[in-house]
Amino acid sequence: MARFTLPRDVYHGKGSLETLKTLKGKKAIICVGGGSMKRFGFLDRAVSYLKEAGMEVALFEGIESDPSVDTVMRGAEKMLEFEPDWIVAIGGGSPIDAAKAMWIKYEYPNCTFEDMCKVFGIPELRHKAKFVAVSSTSGTATEVTAFSIITDYKKGIKYPIADFEITPDIAIVDPDLAETMPKKLVAHTGMDALTHAVEAYVSTANCDYTDPLAIHAIEMIQRDLVDSYNGDMAARDRMHNAQCLAGMAFSNALLGIVHSMAHKTGAIFQDYGAHIIHGAANAMYLPKVIAFNAKDETAKKRYGVIADYMHLEGTTDDEKVASLIKFCRDMNDKLNIPHCIKNYGADSYPTEQGFVPEEVFLERLPEIAKNAIADACTGSNPRQPSQEEMEKLLKCCYYDTEVDF
Ligand SMILES: NC(=O)c1ccc[n+]([C@@H]2O[C@H](COP(=O)([O-])OP(=O)(O)OC[C@H]3O[C@@H](n4cnc5c(N)ncnc54)[C@H](O)[C@@H]3O)[C@@H](O)[C@H]2O)c1
Ligand SMILES: [Zn+2]
Repeated sequence: MARFTLPRDVYHGKGSLETLKTLKGKKAIICVGGGSMKRFGFLDRAVSYLKEAGMEVALFEGIESDPSVDTVMRGAEKMLEFEPDWIVAIGGGSPIDAAKAMWIKYEYPNCTFEDMCKVFGIPELRHKAKFVAVSSTSGTATEVTAFSIITDYKKGIKYPIADFEITPDIAIVDPDLAETMPKKLVAHTGMDALTHAVEAYVSTANCDYTDPLAIHAIEMIQRDLVDSYNGDMAARDRMHNAQCLAGMAFSNALLGIVHSMAHKTGAIFQDYGAHIIHGAANAMYLPKVIAFNAKDETAKKRYGVIADYMHLEGTTDDEKVASLIKFCRDMNDKLNIPHCIKNYGADSYPTEQGFVPEEVFLERLPEIAKNAIADACTGSNPRQPSQEEMEKLLKCCYYDTEVDF
């Protein structure tokens, strides 16, 4: 038996933030990031809508990008004090993911971070609060997913929390919020969304319910992402829907090793001054993983189907796979994203000498590969890599060399 779970309600379209006026309850806590939502007036609007609904409102502000276990614990403490019956998370993937983990700790104060990381092991939520997610980036789709990504900075590792219990009750997909994104964020989150859709389509957990969502998202991203990046606001608005559809697909079909590697390389080089931003990591690794997975016959056929829907060149599946890889690489060029870690600058742009030194990468490689294999996203990848293969694949992601194994 398989399960397909989405939020009870998805409100979408311009102005859908106003849905907050219709919530029924006594107390709402708004969880938000470092300032963009405040700067652009969305936080004030959310507060006033919730007050209009008759609620007392508290704020938990300043959730950082790639949120930490510490932030989750602090937020949960605030919730235990305030006792909200609604948790309203507004912003990019980071504040929404942090709020999801806070929610677990709020409902079960004795639950440790290790407990949360047991895949599909979260006890029943909603005894204390329900959850609304309002996304301001067009990528993670965490407003509709069963995932939350929290970083353990002691280990430099991102851990996915995965359970349908943390699928929000209400998702608000209001494109007004996405229109303020700077170009770089559009590029990174857009490539995250493309990766979600492609990984979901070839995942071993794909099904008739997830396939149409993944394919339609890919078609929309192909049509709209570059235009959105170049400032076309109608395309930007459509991208907000496209990423959400991709999220509906991967929340139920799961992901693959592009994400396993992104999770395990994202924060591991922070001592050299930067993170490899999630969407940029995906954009660099996706073409390599397509080549690796295409050695599996079923995956190869499914990449071929994607290429057909995208009207890419090729008559044989091998040609179609090559076209899909070329499409992804061309996207990186159009969006100013490097092709490999070696050329990934601390500012995320392509550069001759990136911020991760070669000897540091090679020294940490065996550990990163081991952790990537153990990541929750590896299980549904169409081809299970050995330690040796994962190390080779990561090397291709560092040097941008061809995947021929
Ligand atoms: N839960 C999931 O299913 C899932 C899926 C993929 C990725 N993730 C995780 O989500 C995180 C990344 O989230 P993200 O890519 O949405 O970025 P983010 O939430 O980390 O935000 C990045 C930056 O953009 C700013 N920002 C956000 N929205 C803005 C807007 N509309 N206008 C201007 N600035 C804005 C933020 O203030 C922040 O500085 C990573 O930790 C990643 O691992 C989660
Ligand atoms: Zn992602």
